[in-house]
Amino acid sequence: MHPVVTDLSAELWQSAVRVLDINWSGDHMVPSRRLYPHQWSWDTAFIAVGLAYVNPTRAWRDLHSLFEAQWPDGRVPHIAFDPATGEEDYFPGPAFWNVPAYGRRRPLGSTGIVQPPVHALAAWEVYRHAAAHGAASVQEALNELAWLYPRLVAQQDYLSERRNAGGAGLAAIVHPWESGLDNSPSWDAALANVPADLSLLTRYHRRDLVVTNAAHRPTDEDYARYVRLAVSYRDGGYSDTDLPQRHDFVVECPGFNGVLGVAELALAQIAGVLGLPLDARRHRQRAREITAAISRTLWDPATRTFRSRDVRTGELSAARCVNGLLPLMLPDLSADRAAAIMDELRSERFGLPAPSTDRTAAYFDTHRYWRGPVWINVNWLLRRGMQVHGHHGEAEELRRALLRLVHDNGPYEYFDPETGKGLGAPTFSWSAALCLDLLADRSAPAYARDA
Ligand code: SER
Repeated sequence: MHPVVTDLSAELWQSAVRVLDINWSGDHMVPSRRLYPHQWSWDTAFIAVGLAYVNPTRAWRDLHSLFEAQWPDGRVPHIAFDPATGEEDYFPGPAFWNVPAYGRRRPLGSTGIVQPPVHALAAWEVYRHAAAHGAASVQEALNELAWLYPRLVAQQDYLSERRNAGGAGLAAIVHPWESGLDNSPSWDAALANVPADLSLLTRYHRRDLVVTNAAHRPTDEDYARYVRLAVSYRDGGYSDTDLPQRHDFVVECPGFNGVLGVAELALAQIAGVLGLPLDARRHRQRAREITAAISRTLWDPATRTFRSRDVRTGELSAARCVNGLLPLMLPDLSADRAAAIMDELRSERFGLPAPSTDRTAAYFDTHRYWRGPVWINVNWLLRRGMQVHGHHGEAEELRRALLRLVHDNGPYEYFDPETGKGLGAPTFSWSAALCLDLLADRSAPAYARDA
């Protein structure tokens, strides 16, 4: 047990460790046994943050497995498929995505879309905690960082260059699944142009509804659009050329790009450890550029909030969602913008822990996935943002609120923002893993501003 864990928290610590043991599949972690039986990209990063305390070797193995599925163009797929899991156990599975063999990978090994690049931050966190496990663990961490670093850089280059569809220096997503916030109202306006052909769902069958409550998941209309967009991107050979002209959904997300900027800061730290000071300087410069691009492109001056932007129309989304709060993670965000995010967070629209959308909006739904429920991972990112901008009291309030939520309701995938009741998958890996970090680590990120 980690020394700073108090007796009161021991129960939560032990149950979180149990979840991570149950969900370990030999060389990777599944987010949950029944609903998500493969390896997911940003889940792997959040899970590594927790494994850093109890089993760093597994954290590195998990990251290693994911990056073995990296494409030659640098993209890290949103799912690395487990060959031992059948096509019928998850939809859309390997045959649907139909990804050819590449590098040393077998065919049908992954999807062709991405997720937010939280991995550099995760690798840095695992390294940072290695010393607590002894000299061999530090050596292991250095070896793994050296292996991962060029791969993490290739991931950033893919997102910053090939996905710069809007030309502002931000990464665009081509599917709501890429945001990680699948059915967020943030995509409603852009998705309105994508036909919802429900007959697609007679050809393809949703597996999620077999294993969980339909009222807690995206609707069939959402899924019809998701399938259509995935088919379109797949049938275009997963090419990113001329995206706004060829593809129906091309959107810049403030959360995804906030993570992209933070990844550059984590890479700067990693480059420093690997003795690459020029690279470290370049990563810090990239983080400043991404921060400036987010501030220029995704800021709505009328409401003083960050919004997603439809690259095809140039329009900002009208919806106020948790992704608009995530640029708070960036230390070079201006004091004025950071203050505006804190005001929004403190307002009746959000509060702590933050729900996934504006509580006062017509689209707010306490049960449906990313249209209202509280998620641990985005709140964990927000807490870092609060620390980065010197709001230590509220960061501590949020830490306690998240731990109370999971302690009282179990390590669920997401939570009813009014009652706290657990929703979705009941033993969810990132909820468990991030609790370990919330229990053990009170320190602010290395690049935090002074309060
Ligand atoms: N989050 C999506 C799912 O529910 C896709 O990754 O499966």
